[in-house]
Amino acid sequence: MYRYIIKGGKRLHGETEVSGSKNASLPILAASIINGKTTRLYNVPDIEDVKTTLQILKELGCKIKKDKNKIVINSKTMTKTTIPDNLMRKLRSSVIIAGAIIARFGCARFSYPGGCDIGARPIDLHLENFKKIGIKINENTRYIECNCDKIETKIIELDFPSVGATENLILATVIGNHEITIKNSAMEPEIIDLANFLNKMGAKIYGAGTNIIKIKGVRDLREISYKIMPDRIEAGTLLIAGAITKGMVKINNAIPEHISPLLSKLEEIGCEIKIINKSVYLNANKKLKAVDIQTMPYPGFPTDLQPQFSTLLTICAGTSIVRENIFENRFKFMQEIQRMGAKVTIEGKTMVIKGIRKLHGADLVSTDLRGGASMVLAGLAAKGITRVTNLQYLLRGYDEFDKKLNELGADIIREEGE
Ligand code: EPZ
Repeated sequence: MYRYIIKGGKRLHGETEVSGSKNASLPILAASIINGKTTRLYNVPDIEDVKTTLQILKELGCKIKKDKNKIVINSKTMTKTTIPDNLMRKLRSSVIIAGAIIARFGCARFSYPGGCDIGARPIDLHLENFKKIGIKINENTRYIECNCDKIETKIIELDFPSVGATENLILATVIGNHEITIKNSAMEPEIIDLANFLNKMGAKIYGAGTNIIKIKGVRDLREISYKIMPDRIEAGTLLIAGAITKGMVKINNAIPEHISPLLSKLEEIGCEIKIINKSVYLNANKKLKAVDIQTMPYPGFPTDLQPQFSTLLTICAGTSIVRENIFENRFKFMQEIQRMGAKVTIEGKTMVIKGIRKLHGADLVSTDLRGGASMVLAGLAAKGITRVTNLQYLLRGYDEFDKKLNELGADIIREEGE
């Protein structure tokens, strides 16, 4: 079990790099099984969720070569169509691999992904829309079994712009001679990266990044190399680290427009933000003041930055209101930050934060990926020492997190705990 020992109170300064996007890598790794050929990926973050996805691809019969951020997948040797139950539980989002397996073999088998600490994480939108386009679903066994002779040309509308359901539908329908229109599709940048990857392979996907996506099935997909886009959530997390320590940081190779809702909120609380090419510069040398936020599907304020920004608000003067509209249980991390002196009340999807002058160090236990990152940010700002355990959550989604923060002047030691 890993843990961080953080000596707080140091203003971060300097610059660091953003790694490739976790949430673009996972669907693109899934898509690499469809062509039955070799795919070369660059700028893939070296994180647990990628390693788990590669384990699944290996179990399905693919040959994998990994050299840190470079991955070569040969899916020619793939023969299996069942996602192993233990790996499905380890990584809920692996449900989108089912769409890719269906595109390749016309059938797939997987178990319910199960919930996690931020919510139930149902997959009803995936399954009901699979049925609408001609995929037969049998849920009566331990597994969910999907079978499809032919995808039917259809216009479907998502009840909610689900990222995973949008990705799964794109993956399941790139091969064939049909035309699928997905209305109310998710517009996240990771969907654009997935569509760019598949279109470079020869797919015909139109409208990615808007709320209407059209997929024209093609006969097959070719071999390609592809560089994963930068991780917008890591970029935002590092900028918030600069703000919470009242520092001055420059985050390189980010894509500023991917985090514009965060950048405007950081300016609203009193940070100076400058965009210089693909770098974002933040200077938090003024007294920071309270602001309200509410999470929305892209291009709204991202739910994946809510825990980090809410933690920042605990030391912004005044009262802030945070509304979490995407996941039903994404405030749990704040119970730990309250142990550091944060003044917070939670009512359902609304959190009221009364800013205090300074947090004090404490021993914290992380329960999920972004909550764990938020506890590290709190430790950077707090007076004294903070220990964060259960780092396995954090290591799922951040590549060399402590190394990057220490590059910016933090004092974080990572040690093997009991
Ligand atoms: C993706 O999860 C991301 N994960 C999440 O990032 C992100 O928070 C989320 O999109 C929203 O932006 C990956 O890309 C791997 P959804 P996903 O389907 O696809 C409900 C992180 O920290 N819903 O858009 O699971 C669901 O319960 C992770 O990197 C249904 O009701 O998100 C949730 O309330 C956390 N039925 C809402 O929609 C369904 O069939 C958004 O879920 C599917 C979803």
